[in-house]
Amino acid sequence: MLDDPGALAAVDPHGARAALAGFPAQCRAAAAIEPPLLPSMKRPRVVVIAGMGGSASAGDLVAACSAERVEIPMFVHRGYGLPSVAWDEALVLAVSYSGNSAEIISAADTARARRLPFVAVTAGGALASLTEQRGLPCVRVPQGLMPRMALGYLFFPLARILRALDVDVVSGEEIQEALAVVEQLGAELAPERPLEVNEAKRLAVAIGSRWPAVYGGPVTGAVAYRWKTDFEENAKVFGLAGALPEMNHNTIEAWRTPLARDLHLVLLRDEREEPEIARRFTLLRDLAGPAAGGVSECRARGRSTLARLLSLTCLGQWASLYLAALRGVDPWSVPTLDEVKRRLREG
Ligand code: F6R
Repeated sequence: MLDDPGALAAVDPHGARAALAGFPAQCRAAAAIEPPLLPSMKRPRVVVIAGMGGSASAGDLVAACSAERVEIPMFVHRGYGLPSVAWDEALVLAVSYSGNSAEIISAADTARARRLPFVAVTAGGALASLTEQRGLPCVRVPQGLMPRMALGYLFFPLARILRALDVDVVSGEEIQEALAVVEQLGAELAPERPLEVNEAKRLAVAIGSRWPAVYGGPVTGAVAYRWKTDFEENAKVFGLAGALPEMNHNTIEAWRTPLARDLHLVLLRDEREEPEIARRFTLLRDLAGPAAGGVSECRARGRSTLARLLSLTCLGQWASLYLAALRGVDPWSVPTLDEVKRRLREG
């Protein structure tokens, strides 16, 4: 059914397919946005990115790109308020696509109480309103997407803000390379490409009725978590995620039990991974593979960390959409997540 446009349209009435197909153009448009910073802002000594869910994953991407090149501590904060590291000379970046996540409004209020430099990235909502009222810088991005499908609009402005403050998360050249890789994958993974040559469709079929368990290495581990949340929100299945080497010290123990039959092991490989990590992937495959319901290996593309992480992210987005289609569930709507937000608002 994945090659049948009518069947895909029937299961995806809100157009998650179109949102994902537009991801390369979204990234290109987002990379061109000039952040409106205040002249008083200077290079921070600590960066705290406050976000939840799909918005937080833009922060994870920034942190993963920074890990090997930026000497400034960088924290992705998922929760109310701000961590105590957000004090003197810390920069707070608040990212919420809807602008209405209670946790991020609370982070903005805490930043104000602590008089910290602050920039918001949002498509509107209460976050946009409060930046207007308080005269704070805000990158306004287009509305109309689900937050998790707006990763380009959320990530690139964060990277641009940091670059403007002399925090070199990604170079202009790396951004151009990443955009080209995302465009290439957009063409390769789209619904028009049939199953036999479409890696995302093949992966969804391989996972089938099992639960995906996704593992990355030290760099791609951030994307493994993103895959898990995409499978959960888009396909409405439980997902597991972890990273090597850490999972060798705990989760590995559960892999040689009968429970593993219900899981599909997905390994996010990266040609730049260290030989020690490659060895651990081989071992994981040897030990867990025979017990697992199935195993798939996916390879990052591109030279820069950003290109490699975004290439795997694109694959996970499409694979989770196709898995939703196979399961007959709408990949766009998140009714239970919405109900939680509504019931919290009602008190
Ligand atoms: C929904 C989604 C969620 C949201 C999260 C926070 O598509 O991806 O994970 O990102 O509920 O909402 P925002 O991003 O609007 O702050």
